[in-house]
Amino acid sequence: MVVSIDADLADAIGPVPRRLFGSFVEHMGRAVHTGIHEPGHPASDETGLRGDVLELVRELGPTVVRYPGGNFVSGYRWEDGTGPVEGRPTRFDPAWHTLESNTFGLHEFVDWARKADVEPMYAVNLGTRGIQEAADVLEYCNLPGGTALSDRRRANGAEHPFGITLWCLGNEMDGPWQIGHKSADEYGRLAAETARLMRMIDPRVELVVAGSSNEEMPTFGQWERTVLAHTAELVDHISVHAYYQEFDGDADSYLGSSVAFDRYLNRTAAIIDGVLAELGLDKKIGISVDEWNAWDQRHWNEVEQPALRAQPPAHHPRVIEDTYTVTDAVVVGTLLNSLLRNVDRVSMANLAQLVNVIAPIRSEPGGPAWRQTTFHPFSLTAAHATGTSLKLSVDGSPRIDTALHGPVDQVDASATYDAETGRGAVFLVNRSTTESAEVSVRLRGAALRLADARTVTIPPGGDRHTANTEHSQPVAPTALDGATATASEEGTTLSATLSPLSW
Ligand code: AHR
Repeated sequence: MVVSIDADLADAIGPVPRRLFGSFVEHMGRAVHTGIHEPGHPASDETGLRGDVLELVRELGPTVVRYPGGNFVSGYRWEDGTGPVEGRPTRFDPAWHTLESNTFGLHEFVDWARKADVEPMYAVNLGTRGIQEAADVLEYCNLPGGTALSDRRRANGAEHPFGITLWCLGNEMDGPWQIGHKSADEYGRLAAETARLMRMIDPRVELVVAGSSNEEMPTFGQWERTVLAHTAELVDHISVHAYYQEFDGDADSYLGSSVAFDRYLNRTAAIIDGVLAELGLDKKIGISVDEWNAWDQRHWNEVEQPALRAQPPAHHPRVIEDTYTVTDAVVVGTLLNSLLRNVDRVSMANLAQLVNVIAPIRSEPGGPAWRQTTFHPFSLTAAHATGTSLKLSVDGSPRIDTALHGPVDQVDASATYDAETGRGAVFLVNRSTTESAEVSVRLRGAALRLADARTVTIPPGGDRHTANTEHSQPVAPTALDGATATASEEGTTLSATLSPLSW
């Protein structure tokens, strides 16, 4: 049976925001220290930035990077990471039970972001801190000079303002695990007052208010409604955090995760619309999926975290360094498809995280850096999904029964077309671990030729658990043999056979 996918190149869901391909660097585990920053490493520059990691980051292609947390930010004093490095304090970070040396901070991050060619997205602490400290860090970053804090930035070596325009108002404040956790009303009021003051200091700021930590939170929905009732007039985006994992070897449910992701995004969009209608506000509030990924959270909660907390706090311990498999790469591919299918509502998204901590890039202290399996669907999608995301109709896909999501299409798809360059891309996933899938994609509106067809799948001799490690990286894109394109006046038909468990 052939799965038929049909699209009109002129019929788009919406433009693909470049910020859809963001990522995230938190002071957590080895994301910063021995991740992006390792003074003395043979590949590091004079400021300690790891050149080998930077090269992989550029190849991965994130467009915007969120910093400095995550849970870390809710206990963070941004000033600790400024001024001469020798004078910076070492602090205990209760969020991750870690010692933070602060040898990497605001200036180093901005410098790294420039070298990585990414837009910085900065989160303020609304856990232990509030309006004043958010105003202070904004003044420090964005005012040209002539005020105490902007002059302190200049004295610390940055004559020109950092010009950071994208700001998160705290992190996961709905979570009881969050330092300074608040009720929706408490957080909504604080976020609104912080937003108001930040806009007075720099009217260019674009603000992300914190939505729920996940769709299963008992407060999901009520949290968004209350927080938006306080902040809708003042913010531009509301966050969604979404992590997916495999439970007890149930690969089918895990591979169906994007069904849950689509539903979570749709529900959030409906809540936004409801609040805007209720308030009579004629504006758009985007969904910032500012943390998403595959993450074995059960392992973290039940094994890693208790072990970490039983030890005295240490500098940059190994924390959630999940090693990703072929299955994880395919799941990440489906989650990217979800993002592309929802570009009418999702204004940006950040793969959490970037290096070492549940990351597409891994690095060893003093050693090499390498691409995890999940690197590939992300980098190829970020490079090729340009222009607009197309409306697709998918017919004839066999269904896979899953315990968690009911029947799920075996073939998952998204497609983009860039009328300016005349380039299109089709992103296909075969979720079946046993069956291949014949797919025919009809793109109406232009005669196109096939420039390239690649796949990420189980390598020869491997299985669905095959992973990339420091020593060998067998999971990488290979040619999708047999893919063809037939063009006519009406359009182009692509045909391909997708092997089991493939992106
Ligand atoms: O990305 C890891 C952690 O997951 C973040 O610190 C937190 O925001 C989320 O719960």
